Amino acid sequence: MTISQPLLEKIIRDAGEIALKHFHDLKHLNVEKKQPRDFVTAADVEVEQFLQTQLRENYPQFGFWGEESGQSENQTNRWIVDPIDGTHSFSRGQYYWSISVALEMDGEMVFGAVFAPALNDFYCAEKGKGAFRNGVKIGVSDLDELNDAMIGTGFACLRAYLENNNLARFCRVAQATASQRRLGSAAVDICLVADGQLDAFWEQELNLYDVAAGALIAKEAGATVTDFQGNDGIFPKQILVTNGKIYHQLLTLM
Ligand code: IPD
Ligand code: CA
Ligand code: CA
Repeated sequence: MTISQPLLEKIIRDAGEIALKHFHDLKHLNVEKKQPRDFVTAADVEVEQFLQTQLRENYPQFGFWGEESGQSENQTNRWIVDPIDGTHSFSRGQYYWSISVALEMDGEMVFGAVFAPALNDFYCAEKGKGAFRNGVKIGVSDLDELNDAMIGTGFACLRAYLENNNLARFCRVAQATASQRRLGSAAVDICLVADGQLDAFWEQELNLYDVAAGALIAKEAGATVTDFQGNDGIFPKQILVTNGKIYHQLLTLM
């Protein structure tokens, strides 16, 4: 492997400092709308620019795909970046938001990091080497009774306009489980499954940059990552991440 984890952690933590500077001065933060209900801030743009520059400089062999700037030429081996996942929470001073960075090589995630600066939680994984939070190995929960489970989900702003929104599924899952969480960052939600803080997470109509890093971290922590039909893999439009124990019970509700 041609990447250095310590270097990547430093770059991503430095990006976190840039985001935190804005987070601690929200009164002066420039917030715009890409389209109705879809916010972007100066912090999103600055963090992405920083990551793109740093990753290009240190790893010129890889391409780049960032939510705010789009795709570069080399997309076979590429960084996939969401500079701030949970922008709306960020812009309101809430703590669940993150910087998500994945490295995909030939269609497979080989590195993923999700850093939640306001929580000071740094999740990362390299393929085949386990998943870690702040340097400590993590794993999924042992809970095997759906009735007792705590489940995360999200309601994407753009999905509200689709006929296939997640409300019917949400009602089914809510009635069959102990509690629901909507924390505001899909990348963090998936890491919480990896860390056993949630038993499962599901969402519709996400993009690869929302879930790429988290999905590798979750898999390395022992989670199942599938679509709503049970196909293995990362399917951002229909993603279901579970601790494995409640997978079949939850899949039926999808
Ligand atoms: C959003 C977050 C949120 C999810 C939305 C995403 P953004 O990402 O992941 O949890 O529900 O669907 O769009 O826009 O803050 O990067
Ligand atoms: Ca996102
Ligand atoms: Ca984002």
